[in-house]
Amino acid sequence: MFFNLNRTIANPKQWNKKKRRSPLFVLSIFLISLLFFFFFFPNYTIFSTSSKTANIALSQKYPHCETRFHGEKFLWYAPHSGFSNQLSELKNAILMASILNRTLIVPPILDHHAVALGSCPKFRVQSPKEIRISVWDHIVELLRSRRYASMADIIDISSLLSSSLVRAIDFRVFVSLWCGLNIDLVCSNESNALPSLVDSLKQCGSLLSGIDVNTDRCLFAVDEDCRSTVWTYQNGVDGTLDSFQPDEQLKKKKKIPYVRRRRDVYKALGPGSEADPATVLAFGSLFTSPYKGTELYIDIQKAPGDPRIDSLISKIEFLPFVPEIINSGKQFATQTIKAPFLCAQLRLLDGQFKNHWKATFLGLRQKLDSLRQAGSQPIHFFLMTDLPRGNWTGNYLGDLARDSANFKLYFLQEEDHLVMNTAKKLTLAGRGLRFESVPGSLDAAAKVKHCSPDILPDVLLYIEETVCSCASLGFVGTAGSTIAQSIEVMRKFGLCSSPARAAF
Ligand SMILES: *[C@@H]1O[C@H](CO)[C@@H](O)[C@H](O)[C@H]1NC(C)=O
Ligand SMILES: *[C@@H]1O[C@H](CO)[C@@H](O)[C@H](O)[C@H]1NC(C)=O
Ligand SMILES: *[C@@H]1O[C@H](CO)[C@@H](O)[C@H](O)[C@H]1NC(C)=O
Repeated sequence: MFFNLNRTIANPKQWNKKKRRSPLFVLSIFLISLLFFFFFFPNYTIFSTSSKTANIALSQKYPHCETRFHGEKFLWYAPHSGFSNQLSELKNAILMASILNRTLIVPPILDHHAVALGSCPKFRVQSPKEIRISVWDHIVELLRSRRYASMADIIDISSLLSSSLVRAIDFRVFVSLWCGLNIDLVCSNESNALPSLVDSLKQCGSLLSGIDVNTDRCLFAVDEDCRSTVWTYQNGVDGTLDSFQPDEQLKKKKKIPYVRRRRDVYKALGPGSEADPATVLAFGSLFTSPYKGTELYIDIQKAPGDPRIDSLISKIEFLPFVPEIINSGKQFATQTIKAPFLCAQLRLLDGQFKNHWKATFLGLRQKLDSLRQAGSQPIHFFLMTDLPRGNWTGNYLGDLARDSANFKLYFLQEEDHLVMNTAKKLTLAGRGLRFESVPGSLDAAAKVKHCSPDILPDVLLYIEETVCSCASLGFVGTAGSTIAQSIEVMRKFGLCSSPARAAF
């Protein structure tokens, strides 16, 4: 943890409100502010202090608060959990950015389960501030270990950008501009460059996470989360109670004070709101999911009164992988498997899934039996699973692998040439740095790009999903797995049958 949540720091709003109190009070406030000032600027000479100490301190600590980038405003959020979940949050972020007419700051891909949210139905989640801090810390770690890959390196958002449905900026580029940092120092050989970069990142992170300031013009940190709010847009009466509330038992046992209200996000955070003037609007998690007939956090399924948003909603239902990944998946299907095949996605280790092997295997067994009765042997099938190859012996997968008379089994591994080659192509393409929504951002992007990561991104999962979307004999997924859901969506949108796209 880089930041101490309990730290209290002068808040400019409070200073203003308390101005006209007794002289003694004013004096003590002044002395306290001096104390804070010297705490942050120990080298500042006493002769140059003025009565506006607190304000000077703030603007010196956060010079970038004044930066407006040609009047552009931004939206930040804190994704969490595995890739599929991060993708669904990216979609929600695109939607929010478009509704609020803000430029979306595109985050990196976080390590699987590096950041957790908790449980909305149990009203036990990290607060938006806490999750913003966890995400920031993790991003600093990704930069430091040179493993940073942008969501937009993997997910193709170029058609949304070119149709002006949303504007976007890469997180590294935004931070370079806003915090006045050289992210490319990450690549420097100089021994003290990295620690000083990390130091500056910490400072800027405490700002973006909303710890230090929540000023009108600089940053507005959203404190509402799934315990208190369901965001809507042009749908129903603003401020009504949602149908899902903590039950009496939960309220009593956990002393839960929450009431969940449905609130129009445009009214709450759009033009004319307290949040509107802020350069950056920072959400916490943007995770939502249907629950008990309602949504946990965001309930925006359509926008009949706003054709632009309505078309965006249907476009983001499916966001494809970038062409480099799609082409590799198709190549494996057509050049390696070379026959109609079945895909099985078996989640066997992670979380709840380790207790459901029987049910997971049963679904595959039934599908294979029916295929065996219907067609010629051997049945070609592609397997993606989190169970390492060495653990297949002694269970159904081992039986299948041995039974070469009836089955021809294919799978991919991280060290395969195709997988490593795709990762290299992605690094070279650097699609996440290719868009310029903000004037001047391409210069900053070029600097970041010149120092691309030396550790290749982990692309196995994305290629596997693409291969599965090409399986013409069908698909057997693991019930409840978000990966299975992603594959179903890719199959529904006929990703594999669409013509090959240029990977320039
Ligand atoms: C949206 O933001 C852009 C850039 O800041 C601005 O030029 C445009 O007028 C805004 N659109 C609306 C409808 O406010
Ligand atoms: C890092 O050091 C190597 C040799 O020590 C040198 O060739 C290279 O140019 C240096 N890179 C940078 C960015 O300073
Ligand atoms: C997989 O195999 C390794 C090494 O043989 C063993 O330590 C591990 O417990 C196995 N895992 C499972 C889930 O069977």
